[in-house]
Amino acid sequence: MPSDADADAVVSTPTPTAATTIAAAIAAEGPLRFDQVMEFALYGPGGFYTSGGKAGRRGGDFITSPEVGPLFGDVVARWIEAEYRRVGEPDGFTVIEIGAGPGTLARTVRASGRLDFGADDRQHMTGRQSMRYVAVELSATQRAAHPDWVISVGSLSDAVTGGSLPDGPLVGVIIANELLDNLPVRLLVFDGAWREAWADLGRDGRVVEVLSAPIDPHPLWLPRGAPHGARVPWQQAAAVWVTEAVGCLCDGAVLAFDYVTPTTAELATMPWRSWLRTYRDHARGAHYLSDLGLQDITTQVALDQLPPPSAVRSQSQFLQRWGITDLVEEGRVAWAAAAGAPTLAAMKMRSRISEADALLDPAGLGAFSVLEWRAAS
Ligand SMILES: C[S@@+](CC[C@H](N)C(=O)[O-])C[C@H]1O[C@@H](n2cnc3c(N)ncnc32)[C@H](O)[C@@H]1O
Repeated sequence: MPSDADADAVVSTPTPTAATTIAAAIAAEGPLRFDQVMEFALYGPGGFYTSGGKAGRRGGDFITSPEVGPLFGDVVARWIEAEYRRVGEPDGFTVIEIGAGPGTLARTVRASGRLDFGADDRQHMTGRQSMRYVAVELSATQRAAHPDWVISVGSLSDAVTGGSLPDGPLVGVIIANELLDNLPVRLLVFDGAWREAWADLGRDGRVVEVLSAPIDPHPLWLPRGAPHGARVPWQQAAAVWVTEAVGCLCDGAVLAFDYVTPTTAELATMPWRSWLRTYRDHARGAHYLSDLGLQDITTQVALDQLPPPSAVRSQSQFLQRWGITDLVEEGRVAWAAAAGAPTLAAMKMRSRISEADALLDPAGLGAFSVLEWRAAS
């Protein structure tokens, strides 16, 4: 039986860092493929998201559209409402957000007042089920911040095994803001032939990159030639994610907001640091094999590696299509009416103007892509 001293020793064992976990995995099993390194660095023990990395103005590492303010969620709620009507306003309509972070989009979608994720008493009165909002987030620290009215889970299968979702196709929508760029990628490097990047341990015990033999077979989306040293992501995980997300739904749609480049061939001509980026504390980080677990690793999404979407729009086009201009005008009018004696509510209406500027910025968030895949009905 362990003594008290042993118990103390167990309690004080430090949490492993991502770098030590990766080094230990390589020492035990041999080199790791880059997507495995990225998975450990972001989501493993001591990984960036595991240990509290997140979007947000205060205490966050980067700003995303939901974190700009409530306007983004208000417009997304309009799209959800339109999908709900399109599929016939069914009972049990489910909104699933994957990579929900601390739940900011969920909060703002509900605060729009357009959708009923409501209370059970309304169900008694109307005999109808309100909508479900399932917030799926891998990071336990971010799940802890989710509001109590969402079904907060680490994976969709947790929602099924926990009894919150039926085990079968759903009617509803699946939304992901800046998820695809954070899914682990395989990494290819051109030096006369395309080779795959792996990570091994150097003589000093640090993680270093090593290249495989030329890859064979040659994926269709991969250009035959490229500048020496060119790199491209192999987005197997993102392609699988889209296929599975669409497969979850018997009717409805999947909507993903992200930074997207149409073809892998275009990425091959870009300096790799412009599409394979690291971030921490609102600034660009170090090389992707440095500071493992201490910085976000994110990649531009190559559209030609994903199942073909039903629609592709810029974020600016999408938000305008779903009424951002009307919402901003409503804010302007409300602010003008209250300007003599401003209230908090009036100031929130006024902030729609600056939020829209950020969300529509053609050199920033407005240039993101919005990819939509319709599930077959
Ligand atoms: C860039 S953040 C975006 C967070 C939020 N959607 C936003 O826009 O502010 C990506 C989030 O996706 C989460 N994530 C990554 N892979 C995931 C997965 N397979 N399932 C659920 N969450 C995931 C990460 O933990 C992280 O919180």
